[in-house]
Amino acid sequence: MCGIVGYIGKRDAYPILIEGLSALEYRGYDSAGIALVHGKGFSIFKDKGKVDHLKEITKKISAGGCGTGIAHTRWATHGAPSQMNAHPHLDQSSKIAVVHNGIIENFSLLKQKMIKDGVKFCSETDSEVLAQLIGKYYNGDLASAVRRALQDIEGTFGIAVVAADNPGVLIGARRGSPLVVGVGEDELFLASDASAIVRHTKKVIYLKDNNMIELMQGTFNTTTIDNKKVNPEIQNIDWDADSLAKGGFNHFMLKEIFEQPETIQNAIRGRLLVDEGAARLDGLNLVLQELRSIQRLIFVACGTSWHAALVGKYMIEDMAGIPVEVEYASEFRYRNPIIGPNTLVFVISQSGETADTLAALREAAHKGATVLGICNVVGSSIARETHGGVYLHAGPEIGVASTKAFTSQLTVLSLLTLLLGRMRRISHSDGVTVARALEAIPKQVQKILKQNNHIEEIAKTYAKHNNFLYLGRSYNFPVALEGALKLKEISYVHAEGYPAAEMKHGPIALIDKDMPSVVLAIKDSIYDKVISNIQEVNARGGSVIAIANEGDKEIEKYVKHVVYIPKTIPMLSPLLSVIPLQLLAYHIAAIRGCEIDQPRNLAKSVTVE
Ligand code: G6P
Repeated sequence: MCGIVGYIGKRDAYPILIEGLSALEYRGYDSAGIALVHGKGFSIFKDKGKVDHLKEITKKISAGGCGTGIAHTRWATHGAPSQMNAHPHLDQSSKIAVVHNGIIENFSLLKQKMIKDGVKFCSETDSEVLAQLIGKYYNGDLASAVRRALQDIEGTFGIAVVAADNPGVLIGARRGSPLVVGVGEDELFLASDASAIVRHTKKVIYLKDNNMIELMQGTFNTTTIDNKKVNPEIQNIDWDADSLAKGGFNHFMLKEIFEQPETIQNAIRGRLLVDEGAARLDGLNLVLQELRSIQRLIFVACGTSWHAALVGKYMIEDMAGIPVEVEYASEFRYRNPIIGPNTLVFVISQSGETADTLAALREAAHKGATVLGICNVVGSSIARETHGGVYLHAGPEIGVASTKAFTSQLTVLSLLTLLLGRMRRISHSDGVTVARALEAIPKQVQKILKQNNHIEEIAKTYAKHNNFLYLGRSYNFPVALEGALKLKEISYVHAEGYPAAEMKHGPIALIDKDMPSVVLAIKDSIYDKVISNIQEVNARGGSVIAIANEGDKEIEKYVKHVVYIPKTIPMLSPLLSVIPLQLLAYHIAAIRGCEIDQPRNLAKSVTVE
């Protein structure tokens, strides 16, 4: 992960870099640092801690006159978070400064070799090796030195490099880690993603893998790392800086939870054909005959996206009759998966940059599969490398715990179910029923959000508990997993998601008055069985918080607390039932005083294995 920003232009680089780092902090916040080039050397500031701390220690610096610089916010991989391990890293003679995102796999070998040659290292990071190598090859031509050093490197990198004696050049290069170039009036930017630079320009180049860019005052030169000319495409960002602000909410996570009526609507727009009871997803780039001949689907993802994939499996198998496998990307990429004919692989990723998901995509493509993406970030690596796909159009998701991207993924998966299902099991009238139900979801989500205070009250009752069980069946089993993950991620409370009936094969042993269960008790064909599971919890002295359908007064007999959600068809119930669980996790974390948008040890975009 880690966030990178670079600037070269006529303005002072310092405020632009610091502001850019703040926007990238979701990528890691173990340490932060900045290097400004003033022609006769660098001004370097770096320390353990967040960007605000860096701001604090640099507020007295006079940055005037430095129009070139690089900066970094770190998610530690090699070496603990510390001042010494913070980026930028310098070569031993302080000629070169580098910020790096990714992992240099052969760093230990390279480091030992250089130590034998008398090179002095001062950090435990893999990234310092790169600075030392570039320093070794530098003789006044920075692009050639970077190119030469990258030949020695194995692994992944997104880098920004500057030379102490030349404020007129800034180099960026990438392999496996994202890098975007911002093209302004007489100024150029480099960043891990566009959120760091959108305040300054909306014109961007998404640098391709194995490409390098040399940024000079007002002009740039793009090549492959082995120096073949590349003509980059300049694209326009279609969102603005306002969508990055908290908009009156205390945290991005809460803002993003409340955005869901709109983001779900955005995912539906132009794709749902209500009167035809169908959906169109033109970005898949597949003709009807191809879609008709699919016999198997494989969904590959990590984290919350994996939970969305699991709901997708239930939807598609149930409604379209196509077998679906759901794979963790980290397992899929290394286990030599079987991908037969007429199989479509979907990779699902909010960021489009998750390293394991990207590697799984490449493995599937290598085996000859058609690979499609369901992504949020436009122009991300996964979006670019797939044969086609569907964007979520949810806008930037900043909170590390994914919320609006999850419900947008579910929306896209229900559109996919309609598209594939209408060619198979779903009749016109059933299709219209699904389409109308989906159309109604944004307003129903709005209604659930109005119960925010009620959910906060429930959170107050349970905020001190240290163990939770989340139970659901059928479509709501993946929601139980997602609810438990939300609580774990942001409140550091132990929570387990389980299929409700499986509880008696183990977790029931844990239940007592101190272990509440959150039960998804939606009125569907197995509602009665869920009620039996609730009774089993009660019999062991456990307390139950139920998510139930409006009008279900009966449930109040069996549980301590209920959050009512509107009725919808079973396949769409996760889009509603997950909302109270997001709010419950948020409020418990807030009461416990946790850092909700930047939970410890986590990062939004996991670009390392
Ligand atoms: C990280 C994030 C999770 C996310 C997962 C997959 O672990 O903290 O919130 O679900 O990565 O991310 P992706 O961008 O591929 O959906």
